[in-house]
Amino acid sequence: MERIVVLGAGGFGREALDVIEAINSVSPRWDVVGVIDDAPAAVQLDRLAARGVPWLGALDTFLDSSGEPVWFTVAIGSPAARQRLHARLEGAGHRPATLVHPAAHVGSLVSLAPGTIICGGAQISTNVTIGVGGHVNPNATIGHDSTLHDWVSINPAAVVSGEVTIGATSLVGAGAVILQGLLVGEGALIGAAACVTRSVEPGRTVKGVPAR
Ligand SMILES: CC(C)(COP(=O)(O)OP(=O)(O)OC[C@H]1O[C@@H](n2cnc3c(N)ncnc32)[C@H](O)[C@@H]1OP(=O)(O)O)[C@@H](O)C(=O)NCCC(=O)NCCS
Repeated sequence: MERIVVLGAGGFGREALDVIEAINSVSPRWDVVGVIDDAPAAVQLDRLAARGVPWLGALDTFLDSSGEPVWFTVAIGSPAARQRLHARLEGAGHRPATLVHPAAHVGSLVSLAPGTIICGGAQISTNVTIGVGGHVNPNATIGHDSTLHDWVSINPAAVVSGEVTIGATSLVGAGAVILQGLLVGEGALIGAAACVTRSVEPGRTVKGVPAR
């Protein structure tokens, strides 16, 4: 078994634990050391305790005390925060895991970079590239021939159509649809339930149907 820590005690941190447990139920691989979080709410600590997973303290505490390198996953929804925290763990010699829930469907010629989390029910079509730290949440779909650059978050049930390119650190809200062939610029924010019918400039927030 290989030791892994989860960064983030919030809801997605526990969903990442679910992904790890589901992987282990098919083929035991991960020994969960615990969860790192700088300031977990009491309710989050109670929820962790209920599943028997220890809180390892703040990131600084973990980095000061950790000995052997471990695998890690950064289970934080904010792409920018994820990028920063991933860099700190990797800089300290720890290794980003790539986690794919066994109930996700991953097609042929799919490239998943380190730090990626693919949740249950996600559908990744063929010839798809997902960059470092990509998150594909439950029941989201990534169409054929699409490229997600580093630190992209695809929230639950979003649909990225075929031949879409999404720039680094962008976030696609829950249930949003991006039509085929479009380019979403770096750092863009797509609102929940939006229908994106035109390419999105870097750094822009769009929402609604059609998205504006
Ligand atoms: C679009 C979004 C980025 C806007 O965030 P924001 O700038 O903080 O927006 P606010 O909450 O201040 O709302 C501003 C206005 O936009 C509207 N609005 C917010 N989100 C919207 C959405 N997804 N679609 C349409 N309108 C939306 C609000 O009703 C409000 O309208 P008003 O000014 O007429 O009252 C955000 O609401 C969103 O959809 N994020 C994705 C969230 C997500 O995926 N959650 C699931 C997590 S698993």
